[in-house]
Amino acid sequence: MCGIFAYMNYRVPRTRKEIFETLIKGLQRLEYRGYDSAGVAIDGNNNEVKERHIQLVKKRGNVKALDEELYKQDSMDLKVEFETHFGIAHTRWATHGVPNAVNSHPQRSDKGNEFVVIHNGIITNYKDLRKFLESKGYEFESETDTETIAKLIKYVFDNRETEDITFSTLVERVIQQLEGAFALVFKSIHYPGEAVATRRGSPLLIGVRSKYKLSTEQIPILYRTRNIENVKNICKTRMKRLDSSTCLHAVGDKAVEFFFASDASAIIEHTNRVIFLEDDDIAAVADGKLSIHRVKRSASDDPSRAIQTLQMELQQIMKGNFSAFMQKEIFEQPESVFNTMRGRVNFETNTVLLGGLKDHLKEIRRCRRLIVIGCGTSYHAAVATRQVLEELTELPVMVELASDFLDRNTPVFRDDVCFFISQSGETADTLLALRYCKDRRALTVGVTNTVGSSISRETDCGVHINAGPEIGVASTKAYTSQFISLVMFGLMMSEDRISLQNRRREIIHGLRSLPELIKEVLSLDEKIHDLALELYTQRSLLVMGRGYNYATCLEGALKIKEITYMHSEGILAGELKHGPLALIDKQMPVIMVIMKDPCFAKCQNALQQVTARQGRPIILCSKDDTESSKFAYKTIELPHTVDCLQGILSVIPLQLLSFHLAVLRGYDVDFPRNLAKSVTVE
Ligand code: F6R
Repeated sequence: MCGIFAYMNYRVPRTRKEIFETLIKGLQRLEYRGYDSAGVAIDGNNNEVKERHIQLVKKRGNVKALDEELYKQDSMDLKVEFETHFGIAHTRWATHGVPNAVNSHPQRSDKGNEFVVIHNGIITNYKDLRKFLESKGYEFESETDTETIAKLIKYVFDNRETEDITFSTLVERVIQQLEGAFALVFKSIHYPGEAVATRRGSPLLIGVRSKYKLSTEQIPILYRTRNIENVKNICKTRMKRLDSSTCLHAVGDKAVEFFFASDASAIIEHTNRVIFLEDDDIAAVADGKLSIHRVKRSASDDPSRAIQTLQMELQQIMKGNFSAFMQKEIFEQPESVFNTMRGRVNFETNTVLLGGLKDHLKEIRRCRRLIVIGCGTSYHAAVATRQVLEELTELPVMVELASDFLDRNTPVFRDDVCFFISQSGETADTLLALRYCKDRRALTVGVTNTVGSSISRETDCGVHINAGPEIGVASTKAYTSQFISLVMFGLMMSEDRISLQNRRREIIHGLRSLPELIKEVLSLDEKIHDLALELYTQRSLLVMGRGYNYATCLEGALKIKEITYMHSEGILAGELKHGPLALIDKQMPVIMVIMKDPCFAKCQNALQQVTARQGRPIILCSKDDTESSKFAYKTIELPHTVDCLQGILSVIPLQLLSFHLAVLRGYDVDFPRNLAKSVTVE
């Protein structure tokens, strides 16, 4: 949901061309977050700081289109060097207003571009703010919520009481008026060479690069000394002046570069030294010094922000020899699955240790029920593992779509344990569900793929799935790693259950051979491509199964619809007779997942019902299954594993099929229309 990138070089001379390239590269890394329009704001003049003005270049379309536009519109010599420069850039996934140049970011305060801002998130009270600002004579040009922020900062500036008000004080006053979620970076002609960034509910981190030793590894937070009156609603209350006396602790100051981004993938090629901002932090760079302040102090506040070292390699976020990130990530699964288990499953002693949960295990064992919450693919991982979790924990397990869970005001108690499954760790619905459960004092557990993400920070404890960065909008390797993480949790919970020891051994044994079996499934790629050649002109594709593989059907259908734009439905085979059977005829393509597990006989019944209606099922079945193949129009034969892990193998052919279908239909697999990787709005 929109990608933010900004770059400041302070006393590190960079040509205009180098600055363009850094901004565009940063946006390309974030393009998976949104790609319907993009824009940058850069200094439009030369090194004479006083004469600077801000140049905005915005374009409908992807980052490549912006890149071309930038060189078309820019009249300055690309070799001009800036000793200090601050540029901001944005790639958008539209929430308010159609994707076009005017609605794209940066949004500006006025025609003179006095203040410009980039935003990820959603401002829920923007209509009230807009009405107020219009009543004061500010003219709006876009349909976005973000423009309100640009106009509001100008309003605060125009009505300042002192000439020497700082840039960060202006931003502080602005965010007190905002409701909703945001990560923001501001630039202004009134504060040349300065940057201010802040967040609430949307992610934002800052990378620091300098050849000089940084002055500190911990940035102590500065709190305003005077209490501020509640100025929540600008329409009703006059804003109060803040005490701007500061004594900032800072990092930087000699020759230093700062990178601001929505996630680490845009920063890692420049530096692995980063600071994760917390909600309501206001980070400001002035004279090459970065400082962070907050308005209010609460008891739970950490009084400093550490400069952390990211454990991520650049090549992890490059496509390599693959044509799309999604394809690369599908083929990475033997390693990603291995990495999820590494150091956690001991195949000699048949034990599992999840370090992030061990201190809470007693409490979890005492709980009344488990509630596993997520959206989309992450929810499917919960559905896929529900049965084995029930079996191994001997607890009732509810699986919940975060949005619906909240809509229902689901009763949650302090002896519940609530799991939040999220690749990005930033999904708004899941994050809100987490806060809802925290308010009700349940123990909260995060299962995420993103270190430092909001969900990983706000939960009481958690598991990092270690799948490596997932860039493709369609989630693939995160699903299999989430699946394994939840199974590992079940195994850890059941360690002392005598009656479950054989079953635990069987599952742990199954986990050990998974990477090799996944490789075997991936070797079916060509066969699956041939199947895609037969199917790609179809309008619809049904995917049917039950038991452990119902989730496979839901997830397979989601992959197909999101990147091929075909209609696809995951159908519980047990429900066939209650409606979906009416869809079956000679023409309707139907994929059936039939594995050698306790539902095998029931799946055979469904198969009979489909063939009796002249359906021509494509069957995903076990290699040794001679029975199903007799009735199949086509089969894809898969290696056999333990019933509760089979879904990890059976989902992969569907991931591959959706990929090939999308390519054959001529779509950009990594950037499906209308979707974004990280959905940070409700
Ligand atoms: C589908 C997909 C989405 C996400 C969902 C939750 O391929 O990627 O359905 O699974 O938006 O995202 P996370 O896991 O980041 O919370």
